[in-house]
Amino acid sequence: TKSEGVTINFITPEGDKKTIIANKGESIMDISHTHDDIELECACEGSLACSTCHVIVDPEYYKKLEEPTDEENDMLDLAFGLTETSRLGCQIVMEKDLDGITVTIPSATRNVQLKGSKLS
Ligand code: FES
Repeated sequence: TKSEGVTINFITPEGDKKTIIANKGESIMDISHTHDDIELECACEGSLACSTCHVIVDPEYYKKLEEPTDEENDMLDLAFGLTETSRLGCQIVMEKDLDGITVTIPSATRNVQLKGSKLS
């Protein structure tokens, strides 16, 4: 029903803001899978074996999230452009108190940077 919706704002790598109404219980990975305009890679499909789902969380909302597990922290250490409020998108599950959260999808991954450099 409509009252179950929670609002999430994505800032894309290009700096565009996309506002989406998600369902409670959906992870940020789930949301990106069902919205073509949200490009979050999620290479391991949420099994905490990659860091491609790295997002930067608005500090106000970062405080409301459950503490990351050791497994998540290990993967975050490998994320490119890690920040104080970085989390893995597959581990953030939308709840009522996250209504209005803003997450930023980092603009560069290591791979993209390597491709763009002139090493050859
Ligand atoms: Fe791989 Fe989130 S999708 S850790």
